[in-house]
Order: sequence, then structure tokens, then C-alpha cells
Amino acid sequence: MATERQPEAAVFVIFGAGGDLAWRKLIPGLYQLFLDQRLPERVAVIGLGHAEVGEAELRRRFRQGVDQFSRQGPAPEATWELFASRLSFLAAELDQPETYTELAKKLAAQDQEWHTRAQHVFYLAVPPRLIEPIVRNLGRARLSRDRLRARIVVEKPFGRDLASAQALNRTLTQVFHESQIFRIDHYLGKETVQNLLALRFANTLFEPVWNRGYIDHVQITVAERDGVGTRGHYYDRTGALRDMIQNHLLQLLCLVAMEPPVSFTADEVRNQKAEVLHALRPLAPEQVERFAVRGQYGAGWLDGEQVPGYRGEHNVALGSLTETFAAVKLYVDNWRWQGVPFYLRTGKRLPARISEVSIQFKPVPHQIFPPEAFQDPRPNRLIVAIQPEEGILLRFVSKYPGPAMRLAPVLMQFYYREAFKTPSPEAYETLLLDVLRGDATLFMRADQAEAAWEVLAPILEAWETVRPYDFPNYPAGTWGPDAAEALLAQDGRSWVLPTFLECQLCQEELTICQVTEAPR
Ligand code: BG6
Repeated sequence: MATERQPEAAVFVIFGAGGDLAWRKLIPGLYQLFLDQRLPERVAVIGLGHAEVGEAELRRRFRQGVDQFSRQGPAPEATWELFASRLSFLAAELDQPETYTELAKKLAAQDQEWHTRAQHVFYLAVPPRLIEPIVRNLGRARLSRDRLRARIVVEKPFGRDLASAQALNRTLTQVFHESQIFRIDHYLGKETVQNLLALRFANTLFEPVWNRGYIDHVQITVAERDGVGTRGHYYDRTGALRDMIQNHLLQLLCLVAMEPPVSFTADEVRNQKAEVLHALRPLAPEQVERFAVRGQYGAGWLDGEQVPGYRGEHNVALGSLTETFAAVKLYVDNWRWQGVPFYLRTGKRLPARISEVSIQFKPVPHQIFPPEAFQDPRPNRLIVAIQPEEGILLRFVSKYPGPAMRLAPVLMQFYYREAFKTPSPEAYETLLLDVLRGDATLFMRADQAEAAWEVLAPILEAWETVRPYDFPNYPAGTWGPDAAEALLAQDGRSWVLPTFLECQLCQEELTICQVTEAPR
């Protein structure tokens, strides 16, 4: 969110520079910030990786990553050269102390050349098993000592359960102060996710009805069209609950459910989010079956193309029992939300890449219009669309033109791209800048990460104990297993078709559009 002051010099040290994240997100993100002149004049990026990859190969890979993933498209030669002059490499064994002696020397030399003490951002884009040795070695090399200038960024997964997250937090806080630690959840860097805070706390309109008196239930959907792609090795040991619900979806839930913070500062915002996690109703083991659903995709069709099932993906065990779909029902036990269910679902190989939060309101307390006035009775709904479109949509009932009193739902739409006519930054751009400026508002604090694991512990345990008997239980290209529908049907509700799809189906691109019943 970048409200703090920019340092005058900075060095990004990327551990795992040869990996997917550096290639797809970090280097393209830094390149964009460089283009937008958001980085300090004196900036350097040091990539640490295996000697066998080699500097030339890494440079080629970074360039290719920028060309493929940068918002600007392929980089012009001269601009790339300017950016590339800031890049350097250290062939390194990440668990060997000598690497860190070498790194410390390199950083000191850079400071000397710049005649200043630069900000150091240690970015851990590495598998979880390397985090502890890296953190300890940074400590031994005294690279964590400067509380104001040394920062560490830790990627998810942040542990794989409560105990491992606690152990990770202990390791980190033995070497770094909490204010130096940035646990990244890239969903929090997305524009519309941040806009949830603006919507709720910069307007008077919504907050008075933002409670159990008016809201019937909340649905949070993060649907992915892609399968596991090249990440089978990681994903098969992780699954949808750990990969998405523990972090991205629970963070969204926190932003929807939190109380207004006193001010927009990291601790005030994070205190309120932590409160939500603490208020989530713990599930008893025997409730898991009624509150959580898992699924795994089988072979199917997407846009007329046949795609393999999860078990046929690269680096996935033949009879894998890992879930690629998860849905849970949660309750926030406090005054504001008592009795309001929050339904969360996420999955791979669903029909579309769509993330949205849907707030469904209760019906009016007394209906003055006769039933025949309603062409298509639908409750008020507020939708926060996160991707692919970024915007906010409000559905309400309106009179249909004509002599009779006929009522129909209409949709009022606000889209970022139309309203502001300026491209939104990538989540990683926002977050990298925040780290540089020391603003932790959009990052997970230790207690939040642990509380999120605590909430999911009964589900993780139950799923590990009881083998799923019906995997694969949804064909690729569908909205998940039947049990996901049943999860809501038992409460007399159903999942909403994401609004963006609904709008595409009725093919309206107007600011106010008539939404007719969309086929499933
Ligand atoms: C990552 C998960 O955190 O988020 C991936 O590990 C998932 O499995 C990705 O595909 C989704 O992010 P986005 O920004 O594309 O919705």
C-alpha cells in the first residue's frame, strides 16, 4: 500500500532465483517498478541459485520471464539492458555458511560503492525445507541485525499445519524482529481485494447493513481453469485446502468480516483481521463431513478441448488422494455475524478463472407486491469481482417499464478498467514496493498464520484419516463435486453462478444491465 517513505538505496536478494516464482512474478514485477520509476535510483538485484544453472542461463530466463509476463509485453532492448545492469548472480548452496559470508561481502561492497547503507530485502522464493537453514545462516552472517534496513519475505505455504507454522515462526523470530518479517499472501496485493477495505470503510452506505440483520450469507469463490501444470510435485503434497483456503480465501473472509480498524495502519488492520480468525467457530471432528467437501478432477472438457484428469498430470502420484477442490462452511461467532454462514470454495479445472465475493442480502421483511409482480425474484446481492474483471456490482430490484407493476432484478456495475482507465498493478508489484517501504498492512502476521491453521486443523485431520472413496469426483470443466452443491442445499441455498459469467451469458455490457436467468 506503500504509504511509508522510500529508501534511497536497496538491494533485493532473491533466494531461489532459478525458480518459477522469480521467473513469472518477481523479476517481471521488479522490472515494471523499475520502468515506472518506483524503485530507488540506487537499486540492485542479486539472484542466488544453483551453480549449474549459470549466470548466462539465468539472465536469459529472466529476460524471457519479463517478455512473457510483464504487463508491458516484450521489453525493448535498451530498457532491458538498463534494468539488466542492476542484476547480478551468486552461485550458491543455500544451506552452506560460506554462501552467506560471500553475500555479506557483496552487500558491503555495494554499500561502499554507493556510499550509503542500503535496504536489504531477502526474498525466500524457495521450497519450505530451505527456509530454516537460510534464516539461521542470515543470522550467523549478521545480515538480519539492522532492524530498520534488513527485511525478509517468506512465501507461502507457511508451514503445512499449526505445529509446523509455529516452528517456522519461532525460527524466524529468533533471527528477525516481527517488524522485519513479511509473510506474503499475493491475494492481498490485488487491487479489488484492497478495495474491499475502501468499499467498507470509506463509504457510509454499506456498513450499516453489513451485519446479521441484513446479510443472509456470504460466498467466496476462487475458481481456476488451469490444472496443476508444472507444479504437480508441490501440489500433490499440498492440496486445495492448504494451497488456497488457508491463506487466500481466509484472508478474503477476514476483510469481509472484520470490524472497522481505528486507523489504516498495519497493526490496527491486522489486529481486526486476527480477531475474525479467532472468532471462527471451531469444528468438532464429527461436523467435518457436514461443513467441508473435497474433490479431485477427472478427465474432462474445457472449451472443446479434452484435458487429462489430475492423476494423469505431470509429477502427480498415480492413485493420488490429494484434493484439487475444497469447499467449507464457516461461522464467525461474534455479535455482527452470529448465524451468518460464509461459504468458501476453490478448485482447479473449473469452467472459468473467476474470483469473487458475493454478499447476499435477506429478503425484505414485508413484501407489499403480489407474487405475480416478480418476473424473476432474486435477493439483493453485492459482488466484489476480483478477477478476471475487477469491479463491484450491485443487484437490486427495479420496476420493469410498462403500465403494470412488474419487477425485475437489475445490475449496477463498476469496473476498474472503465472507471479509472488506468491499468492495475500486478499484486507482486504492490507487495514488493510495500516491503521496500516497510508497510506490513497487506502481509500476514505470525498470529494470523497460526490462527488460520488452527481453524482448518479438524478438517485436515479428518481428511488425512478418512480416505476419499470417490476420487476423482468431478470432471474437469465442471463446478466441482455434487457434494459441494449439497453443502449449500442442506441450508436451502445454492452456489451463485459468478456474476461475470452471468453477464457474459446475457451479453450485456451496459452500466445497468438486465440479468435474466442464466443457464447453468
Ligand atoms: C497460488 C497457488 O498461491 O495462487 C496456486 O499456490 C494458484 O495454486 C494461485 O494457482 C492462484 O493465483 P491467482 O493470482 O492466479 O489467482
